[in-house]
Amino acid sequence: MKIAVIGSGYVGLPTACGLASFGNNVVCIDNDPQKLTTLQSGIIPLYEEGLQELYETVKDKLTFTGDISSVKDAELIILAVGTPMSDDGSANLEYIFQATKDIKPYLQKDAIVATKSTVPIGTNDEIENIINRPDIAVISMPEFLREGYALYDFFNPDRIIIGTDNISVYNKIRDLYSSHIPAEKIIRTNRHSAELIKYASNAFLATKIQFINEISDLCEQVDADVSDVAAGMGMDTRIGRKFLNAGIGYGGSCFPKDTNALKYMADKHGVNLGLVSSTIKGNHDRRFNIANRVNKYISDIEGKARVAVLGLAFKNGTDDIRYSPAIDIIKNINHNPIYAYDPRAMDNARKELGPNVIFTETLKDCISDADIIAILTEWSDFKALEKESFAKKTLILDYRNILDEPTMRSKPNVIYKRIGQKI
Ligand SMILES: NC(=O)c1ccc[n+]([C@@H]2O[C@H](COP(=O)([O-])OP(=O)(O)OC[C@H]3O[C@@H](n4cnc5c(N)ncnc54)[C@H](O)[C@@H]3O)[C@@H](O)[C@H]2O)c1
Repeated sequence: MKIAVIGSGYVGLPTACGLASFGNNVVCIDNDPQKLTTLQSGIIPLYEEGLQELYETVKDKLTFTGDISSVKDAELIILAVGTPMSDDGSANLEYIFQATKDIKPYLQKDAIVATKSTVPIGTNDEIENIINRPDIAVISMPEFLREGYALYDFFNPDRIIIGTDNISVYNKIRDLYSSHIPAEKIIRTNRHSAELIKYASNAFLATKIQFINEISDLCEQVDADVSDVAAGMGMDTRIGRKFLNAGIGYGGSCFPKDTNALKYMADKHGVNLGLVSSTIKGNHDRRFNIANRVNKYISDIEGKARVAVLGLAFKNGTDDIRYSPAIDIIKNINHNPIYAYDPRAMDNARKELGPNVIFTETLKDCISDADIIAILTEWSDFKALEKESFAKKTLILDYRNILDEPTMRSKPNVIYKRIGQKI
C-alpha cells in the first residue's frame, strides 16, 4: 500500500517505519524545516529505542518531504500531528484542521484518511466536513503506543481500534495489519467510540497512578510501605500491577492533556467527571508537594548544600520533557546551583530550565560530593548508585523507588528515603 504520514514526531516516525517494515511505501510529510533537514540526512531527530536502527533497514521504502502534494499517490493518509493542550484545557485542533486543509486538494479517488492524533469526540466528523468528498473515508485510528516502547508497541499492540461504519474500509485497514498482528486484536467501533476509547484509556491509567500516589501519602503517615501495598494489590488480577508505581506523578505529552481534554468534553456535555477532575488536581499538586519536600531537606542542612537531581524526562526511555514533573520540581527547588543529569533529555531540558541548573556530562559528575540526590525519573542507569560509595553524609531521595532498599540502607554515610514509607 502507498501510505502518507502527516507529522514526523513521536507517533508519526515509529508508525511510518513500522508500516514500511511491513513492505509498504511510506512518505512522511512534516512542515518543520529543521526536523526535515535532519530526517533527510538520515538521522531520526528524537530518541526512541531501536528507531534509528529500524529506519536503516527500511529507508528504501521511506521518504521525508515538506511537500504536501506528495499525498497524491497515497491510498492511506495517516494524520499524526500534535493536538496540544490549550489554555482552557481543551485539545488544540489547529494543527489537525490545518493538515486536513493542506491534504484536501491532493487526495486521490477513494483515499482513506485515518486520524492517529488524539482528538476529541466529533473531530473526525469535522475532518469529514472539511474534506467534503463522498469517495474519501475518514476513520478514527487512535494510537496507544508508549514513548520509550513505541516500536515494541507498534509490533505488539494490545489492540488496534478502527473507528468507522464503512466495512470495506475497515477490511482494507485490517488487511494492512493482519499479516503481522493477530486478528482478534483488531476491532471495529464507530468513530465516536474510537475517539473516546483513547481518552478513557489514558484517563483511567492516569487515575490509577494518582490513586497509588494518594495511598502512598497515607503509607507515609501510618508506617506502611507503598511498594508492598502495590505488590499485594497488583496480585489481584482484577487490579493488575501495572501503573501502581508511586512516584512524583504522571507527565508527558499525553496524560496531562488528555485528562484535561476529556474533562473539557464532559463539561461541554453537562457530564461531571469527578474522578478525572480530582486526578488532574491531585497530580498537579503533587509536583509542588515533592519540590517542597526537597526544599525542606535543603533547609535542614547546615552550610551550603550541594543538590543533585537525576532524571529530567517525564519517564525513562525517552528524551521527552513535555509536562515532565521533574522539570516543574526543579523549577520549584529554591536553590542555586542545582546539578542535573539525564541520559537522554538534557538537550531538551536546557531549553526549558534556568541558569541555576548545571547539566553534568556524566552521572558520576552529577552526584559527586552531593549532600542531597533526588531521583526523579526511573532510568535503570541510576541503579549505578547501588555500587557507589559515599565519602560524606548523603541524603538520597528515591522518588521513583528504583534502588534496592537493603543495599542502599547498608551503605555507610547514606540516608536513604523512598516514596510511600514513613517520613
Ligand atoms: N507521544 C506519544 O507517545 C503519543 C501516543 C499516543 C498518541 N499520541 C498522539 O499523537 C499525536 C502526535 O503526537 P506526537 O507526540 O507524535 O507529536 P509531535 O509533536 O512529536 O509530532 C507532531 C509533528 O507534526 C508536525 N506537524 C504539525 N502540523 C503539521 C502539518 N500541517 N503538516 C505537516 N506536519 C505537521 C510537527 O512539525 C511535528 O513534527 C498527538 O495527538 C498525541 O496526543 C501521542
